[in-house]
This record gives sequence, structure tokens and C-alpha cells, in this order.
Amino acid sequence: MKKILITGGAGFIGSHVVRRFVNLHPEYQIINLDKLTYAGNLLNLRDIENKSNYRFIKADIVDSALIKELFISENIHSVIHLAAESHVDRSISNPLEFVITNVVGTVNLLNAAKNAWKGDYGNHRFYHVSTDEVYGSLGDEGLFHEETAYDPHSPYSASKASSDHFVRAYHDTYGMDIVISNCSNNYGSYHFPEKLIPLAINNIKNLSPIPVYGKGDNIRDWLWVEDHARAIDVIFHGATTGSTYNVGGHNEWKNIDLINLLCKIMDDKLNREPGTSARLITFVTDRAGHDQRYAIDSSKLQKDLNWTPSLQFEEGLAKTVDWYLDNEEWLQNVTSGNYQSYYNEQYSER
Ligand code: NAD
Ligand code: TYD
Repeated sequence: MKKILITGGAGFIGSHVVRRFVNLHPEYQIINLDKLTYAGNLLNLRDIENKSNYRFIKADIVDSALIKELFISENIHSVIHLAAESHVDRSISNPLEFVITNVVGTVNLLNAAKNAWKGDYGNHRFYHVSTDEVYGSLGDEGLFHEETAYDPHSPYSASKASSDHFVRAYHDTYGMDIVISNCSNNYGSYHFPEKLIPLAINNIKNLSPIPVYGKGDNIRDWLWVEDHARAIDVIFHGATTGSTYNVGGHNEWKNIDLINLLCKIMDDKLNREPGTSARLITFVTDRAGHDQRYAIDSSKLQKDLNWTPSLQFEEGLAKTVDWYLDNEEWLQNVTSGNYQSYYNEQYSER
């Protein structure tokens, strides 16, 4: 049985990828390696944790000796690498942590793979999951293509851009079989509630202010997380070596329009008088270096690998709200402790 190492599998997107691979690919043994930072939570994987083709290892990708040994002792066949520090606002407060995990951690994994697979690169794949934020910010027109020049602005996107370059360098220099995908903003279940959509759902539920940065006119291209997990599956299995794919929802929303839609959905679901949730909208100090617009052209993925997003945003957002309302205990668990102090620090001065 081929062993596939999925890093960051206890996080938001990683948990959906692990679940998909464990359930749909019994031909693989899935090893989920995760440090369990504030963003990683094994509650995200309750439903598959006892499956025979799944195993969890708590480890830090920065620990080079451990990672090197693991590739050999476990005979790792291929990697899907998602582990990362992923929150732009945290990267503004603490850039070095992003360099350490996102850059050093990725190079550690590449080195361990190079060491274990030497002479046999054709049979092993290193798949690096990245973001559209490496391309920088768009004006009113245009889309990010696979050939768009990198122009990262935040410490987060700079660290992801750097890791992408290292992954490509291991293909160009050593001949390693790599693939990279750059995806737009994801939404859906198990999303840690410091990112816009789950944070707003949680605050609306609790009748707390919804912090909207600046004028709320920044634009993001939102993709249902399970569609991203499916894209990762088809890219892992179908992409040619060294290739890059953009993944996106063709679904651009101004932040303020998205929040207003969410308020409307939640007024309905919570039987509140129309307008109740929208009154919670609070404009706060803008994020430093806030990218204006992200939008992805994913036509290469559609053409080559026949992938298209499955859900309309209104439907996906309503499903997401239902999930958060039905999973009160999960929300309680992840919003206690560490997250509370982050939240207080982040919003006290805005
Ligand atoms: P997340 O923050 O929810 O999860 C990250 C996971 O990585 C967590 O489980 C965490 O414990 C783990 N991790 C962090 N540092 C680690 C380390 N040093 N060693 C081992 N594990 C570590 O992030 P996410 O939103 O699920 O994003 C996953 C990947 O997808 C990231 O690489 C991110 O850059 C990329 N991405 C995210 C989005 C998005 O909208 N969330 C969009 C495009 C790409
Ligand atoms: P976020 O979910 O942090 O994703 P990213 O910055 O990686 O795109 O933010 C999405 C958008 O929402 C972004 O334009 C910043 C904005 N935002 C707010 O207006 N208020 C908030 O409290 C947060 C967390 C984000």
C-alpha cells in the first residue's frame, strides 16, 4: 500500500483533503502529520480517525531530523503538503514564525524527500498546496493566470511565494516530480473562526460586532473547501510533472456584500427580524498592506483535468452557516483559550 504523507491535515483545508483521501482512496495509507498549532484540531477528523488506512503523527515539519527519519522509516511514497501558518493578520504581527514554518519547514520536507527518493524521482510526487496571494493584488480588471508574475505583499504571501520557488527549484535542479496549485479563498466547515466568514458567523450568532476592515470594498474569490479538496485530488493524480494549476471559484465578492448576504441568511435561520444582524457591522481600521482584489482564472484546470466548482456561493454559504449552527461544541472548543487572547489583542486597537 502506498503511503501518502499529508501535512497540515488537522487544519481547515487539510482535514477535508485527509477525509477525502481516506474515504475515496482505500488503496493508500494516509499519514497525517501535523504540529497541532492553534489552527490544527483533531476534532476536525473525528469521523475518520478509526479508519484502518489512516494514521496521525504529531510533529513539526521544522524538525529536520525527525522528518528525514520519517521518510525512510515509513517509506513515504508521495507528499501532499498543506502545513503552514496561514493567517495574514498573524503574519503582520509575527513574520518570522511564517518564515520558519512556511519556508524552512517546506525546505526540510523537500530535503527529506530528496534524501529518501534519490535516483527514483519519477515514482514519487511532492505536491505543494499554495495560495493565489503570491500573485499580489489586482486592479478592477483581469485575473491571475498560472504565468502571472509573483508579487507578494504580506509576510504570509511572501513566505508562501518563497516556498513555491523552493519547490520549483527542486524540480529544476534535482529533477524531483513536483506539482503546485495556487488557490483562492476557501470557505466551509471546520474553518478556524479568525478568518472572515467563520468569524462573522460566530459574531452574528452571539450578537457581537462584525469587524469589517477599511470600507469593506476589498474583493476575494471564494471557493467551497470541498471543491478545493477535489481539485487537489485530481491534480495529485492527473497533473504532469513540474506543472502549476490555479484553483478558484469564479466567485468574486466585495467583503461588505458578502457580509450583508451572510447577515440576511442568518436573520432567516435564527428567525431574527430582517436587519438585526446587519446592524452589527462595524467598520474598523484597515489591514496594513491590504490587497485590493484577488480573482483566479482556473480554465487550465477545467480544460486539462475536467474540474469545475460544484456549488453556487449562496448555497455554499447557507450550508456553511448550518454547519456552524449545528456544531456549537466544535466552535466552543476552538474558540477557548489561545484564540480568545489573539482575538482580544487583534481587535482591541481597531
Ligand atoms: P490552517 O491554518 O487551517 O491549517 C494549517 C495546519 O498546519 C494546522 O493544522 C496546523 O496545526 C498545521 N501546522 C502549522 N505549522 C506546522 C508545522 N510547523 N508543522 C506541522 N504542522 C503545522 O490552514 P488552511 O487554511 O487549512 O490552509 C492549508 C494550506 O492551504 C496552507 O498551505 C495555505 O497556505 C493554503 N491555502 C489556504 C487557503 C485558504 O483560503 N485557507 C487558500 C489557498 C491556499
Ligand atoms: P481572511 O479571511 O483573513 O483571508 P485573506 O486575507 O487571506 O484573504 O480575510 C478575507 C477578507 O476579509 C480580507 O479582505 C480581509 C477581510 N477581513 C475583514 O474585513 N475583517 C476581519 O475581521 C477579517 C479577519 C478579515
